[in-house]
Amino acid sequence: MPDEHADFEKLIESLNDDVLRASYAAPLDGYRPTFMPRLLAGFLIGCGNLVYGRAPSYLKFRAIEIIARVPYHSWASAIFTLLTLFYADEKRALRLSTLSRFTRFAAENETMHVVVVSALALKHARPGLLRHTIVPVVFAFIYFWKSYFIYLINPRWSLETNYLFEQHAYDQYSLFLAAHQEELKRSPIESEFLAWYGRHPRSEYEFFQSVRNDELVHRNRSIHELRMHEMRAS
Ligand SMILES: [Fe+2]
Ligand SMILES: [Fe+2]
Repeated sequence: MPDEHADFEKLIESLNDDVLRASYAAPLDGYRPTFMPRLLAGFLIGCGNLVYGRAPSYLKFRAIEIIARVPYHSWASAIFTLLTLFYADEKRALRLSTLSRFTRFAAENETMHVVVVSALALKHARPGLLRHTIVPVVFAFIYFWKSYFIYLINPRWSLETNYLFEQHAYDQYSLFLAAHQEELKRSPIESEFLAWYGRHPRSEYEFFQSVRNDELVHRNRSIHELRMHEMRAS
């Protein structure tokens, strides 16, 4: 197997180029999910805006990242459950294991986001216990089981909800970068976790650029995985 992490980091770095990023995003920019995912994602994003405001901020990102990593783990768990039942169907096992590989990789990437973003939120703002810690954790718990069962019932609904949620995360990071460009460029970043992960931004600007790019890759991959899933099933 090729070094997936090194390839991923190269892709993330290349997406700092505006033209390249636009062409990477373009094929799925106009993707229209079905009704149920639009309803679910609309509810989730609406609640987020209500509790944390429409404008992006360190504290909003902290909440988004606590919640956003959950579906990847839900899918891995749901796939594990399905493989306990359908291990004898090799074609199905291959399809499920391919998606499972992506979910484990994305979950690790999202864990890096939540750890580093939380440290930055503590440095720049004052998180409240209820609004910024308890509420997102409770939400994450509900979202975990929602994603788990929805994946079992209809994987399309679950992956398309994620497409919309990742699009929202991408938009929020883009807005944040545009609005705070100068301060972010002046803020150095030091993180043991980032070094362990294998990413070495020199400023918060470079860090948030890389996170924005991660979210775009998650958005696109949700639909690529869905298409592959359905192609192999037919
Ligand atoms: Fe993230
Ligand atoms: Fe993401």
